[in-house]
Amino acid sequence: MTLALEENKKYWKQFSQEDRMCGIDINLFEKLIEDLFINFKNKSILDFGCGTGRIYPFFSKICKDYFGVDITQEVLNLFKAKYPSAKFSLIEGFDIPINDESFDVIWCWSVFTHYPIEDIEEMLKELKRILKKDGKIYCSFIISENLEEDYQEVGFFTHRQQKIEELFTKLGFKLRYPKIIFPTEGFMLKQTLMELRL
Ligand SMILES: C[S@@+](CC[C@H](N)C(=O)[O-])C[C@H]1O[C@@H](n2cnc3c(N)ncnc32)[C@H](O)[C@@H]1O
Repeated sequence: MTLALEENKKYWKQFSQEDRMCGIDINLFEKLIEDLFINFKNKSILDFGCGTGRIYPFFSKICKDYFGVDITQEVLNLFKAKYPSAKFSLIEGFDIPINDESFDVIWCWSVFTHYPIEDIEEMLKELKRILKKDGKIYCSFIISENLEEDYQEVGFFTHRQQKIEELFTKLGFKLRYPKIIFPTEGFMLKQTLMELRL
């Protein structure tokens, strides 16, 4: 287990004692997704690091199949209490017990923002394995173009644009431009959404 994985497990367990994940205006979220021409309609989706299911109401309405995974049982308990029929499961680390090429779309919001690039590489390799060949990954980062080193502050990592792009190329992903910064409040603030395809 890496240091960041260990820290994430502790942090999110503690965090879940009060459900502090701020709400998301689902109508606004839906509008942003539409404006970005992201198509979730009738797709099977893996919500990687699903948390308490903040975006579940949107996905469950539009996607064909929804499945969430998360490393924190306490967070999943909150998810279950809100949405008893949602399908999700606890994972222990970077290995995900799901067959190859299982999902059309993988959504990963505000997870890589808590890891150094070496761990992101491990997670992306695993996500690539379970993504269908014509599938897409949507993942968010806090990016800076001008850093000399990745920057970590209270559990959040700011990553260098160039390093992230090098990693995508190394793993065989193509990145769609333009990158999109969600302008909404709270946890959505200033995260850059990236669309990856093989
Ligand atoms: C900021 S929350 C975001 C939750 C959700 N994506 C959302 O936007 O509401 C980060 C979540 O990622 C989960 N997480 C952290 N590391 C993970 C990992 N390696 N694999 C899966 N989930 C992880 C945490 O337990 C936490 O629920």
